[in-house]
Amino acid sequence: MQRKALIIGACGQIGIELTMALRQKLGAESVVASDVKETCPPAIADGPYVQLSVLDFDALRQVLITYQITEVYNMAALLSATSEKNPAFAWELNMNGLLHTLNLAKEGLIQRLFWPSSIAVFGPTTPRQNTPQDTIMDPNSVYGISKLAGERWCEYYAQKHQVDVRSLRYPGLIGYRSAPGGGTTDYAVDIFYKAIETGQYECFLGPNTMLPMMMMEDAIRATIDITEAPAEQIKIRSSYNLAGCSFTPAELAEHIRLYIPAFEMTYAPDFRQSLADSWPDSIDDQRARQDWGWSHAFDTAALTKKMIEEIGLKINATNAK
Ligand SMILES: NC(=O)c1ccc[n+]([C@@H]2O[C@H](COP(=O)([O-])OP(=O)(O)OC[C@H]3O[C@@H](n4cnc5c(N)ncnc54)[C@H](O)[C@@H]3O)[C@@H](O)[C@H]2O)c1
Repeated sequence: MQRKALIIGACGQIGIELTMALRQKLGAESVVASDVKETCPPAIADGPYVQLSVLDFDALRQVLITYQITEVYNMAALLSATSEKNPAFAWELNMNGLLHTLNLAKEGLIQRLFWPSSIAVFGPTTPRQNTPQDTIMDPNSVYGISKLAGERWCEYYAQKHQVDVRSLRYPGLIGYRSAPGGGTTDYAVDIFYKAIETGQYECFLGPNTMLPMMMMEDAIRATIDITEAPAEQIKIRSSYNLAGCSFTPAELAEHIRLYIPAFEMTYAPDFRQSLADSWPDSIDDQRARQDWGWSHAFDTAALTKKMIEEIGLKINATNAK
């Protein structure tokens, strides 16, 4: 069967990059971008776009039928920092959005479903270093609770209804093509813009807050690879641990100083500090490596180099206009 993809939440930080990558692979017409937003950003205006809320079950069902969709990437969610401000809506969007796609897959309208989980499924008593795939999971954030519940739903639908759902526990994602959407690791994107434009950055996390992070290119490749892998290789139907690199704000600042020696960093931790403090320092992703051949390409040095180069080019292009 010809592959036809629907991306839900395509205007977001990951959705934009995933849409671009899948269109390169499958052709623009074979990848339908959708989001609750009325119009899409220019970066994904080269193919079909539908304004759609994942919470509107009937409209979603109709889009699947109209476009003869075979695979769905459900990226719509309220992220960690925003979820704390609106717990009831975070639960509504993160849970019902997922359940709508799981139920449509159960009906046979989606052959393969990708849904992202997060390192936020772990909590304060989870082992922090090299956090194993199977371990204590006691999330204490609204977002983390919704992601852990989502993982349980994914495994339930895979076991009870043979739904082919695949999932990754993304770390903090860092990219230059799209802006982050209200997460606790957003500082690691903003810092590059401020470092290049002003030479200074005030970080909302403390200097020694170690968190697992990943270059967007790696995350997009992982997303496409796990979705394309033969079903028998996907042995975990809750969500796979996935790792790139880990660093603290102070370490990232040191890496940036290799390019901008006078870069100054100050710290003013806010409510996001306690979210970050409940998450792991680093992740053990052996299962993803063994089961479907995952390997990351970017360490902290390579990530910093790429971000400085690409954001520098972007800022120069804007200034030249
Ligand atoms: N960015 C990260 O670092 C990170 C890390 C871990 C997990 N994740 C997960 O990856 C997924 C995508 O994250 P992101 O960073 O791209 O988020 P984002 O906030 O940048 O994008 C989410 C998109 O969903 C859209 N949306 C909101 N409500 C919707 C609705 N009712 N129907 C359809 N679309 C709707 C928004 O308009 C937005 O464009 C989320 O599930 C998130 O939890 C992200």
